[in-house]
Amino acid sequence: MTLTPVAPLPEHEVRVRAPGKVNLSLRVGAPGADGYHPLHTIFQAVSLYEEIVATPADDLVVTVSGTQAELVPTDETNLAWRAAAVLAEHAGVSGGVHLHLEKGVPVAGGMAGGSADAAAALLACDTLWATGLSRDDLLELAGEIGSDVPFALMGHTAVGSGRGHLLTPALTRGEFHWAFALQDRGLSTPEVYGAFDAAHGHVPSGPGTPPDDEADVPLMQALRAGDPHALGEALHNDLEPAALRLDPALAEPIAVARDAGALGVVLSGSGPTVAALGRNRQHALLVAAAITAAGVADRVVTASAPVAGARVVSTTE
Ligand code: C5P
Repeated sequence: MTLTPVAPLPEHEVRVRAPGKVNLSLRVGAPGADGYHPLHTIFQAVSLYEEIVATPADDLVVTVSGTQAELVPTDETNLAWRAAAVLAEHAGVSGGVHLHLEKGVPVAGGMAGGSADAAAALLACDTLWATGLSRDDLLELAGEIGSDVPFALMGHTAVGSGRGHLLTPALTRGEFHWAFALQDRGLSTPEVYGAFDAAHGHVPSGPGTPPDDEADVPLMQALRAGDPHALGEALHNDLEPAALRLDPALAEPIAVARDAGALGVVLSGSGPTVAALGRNRQHALLVAAAITAAGVADRVVTASAPVAGARVVSTTE
């Protein structure tokens, strides 16, 4: 008798991708008792993605591939790891998961790559474990994991308040085209906030004051009109002077992008990535080429925006 080999059951696998972001505006108030800064920010999701493949496992395991993968921790300090742990605890799931991260968003660049990992991990594990949680539940858990994680779930363009985790979708028209000047050297988000506080005479555990939330009216109008020229003029980041003090060489990609005719140039989040807005796709490529030619960035990428938030790309069962 011959035995017919039985094909192994395909492993249950969930693949999710989540976008990085640029802050079109980032307005920062004085920190309150919890040490966090009240923000008024406008996020836009850009077409640079983190992908996560989640498969069942006995324990919680994280592996990483892609650009700068060696810079990403795989222990409990990894935001995707934390997202899986928080969800398992919340939903009462006892099994583990293997999360494989394919990095497409710059690491420690101010583009929320780690937050995109957390958002992707939340959605992937939620799908794998069929927890039945609502989107609002996931958004709330996301906010516990990190200030930028809810936006990576939501995507598109949104106004963020609180720590940046309370979101309202923003009306936008059309597509915008970006060139991003990336640096291998990272900038620490807490250090940039610290330099910002020092410059503004903020004291730890002070009363906390909200940022100016009226100043972005022209930016919101530019988004509604789909007008890249007006958007370029309205880009703003309160953290930019502090980041430039910590890393003065960042003035170089900013100047080169301006010379190349970018409609606006702004530090992305707490940096060191510099975002330059092109007139159109071709012009964004031209700005990117100028930054590359000037040798003022370690890498340059282009992306379009806005794009959707974390999405399940495929599942196998
Ligand atoms: O929330 P998340 O872990 O992403 O924040 C990282 C760090 O950035 C915080 O520990 C804090 O130092 C700083 N931060 C802040 N105010 C915010 C967001 C972040 O001071 N609204």
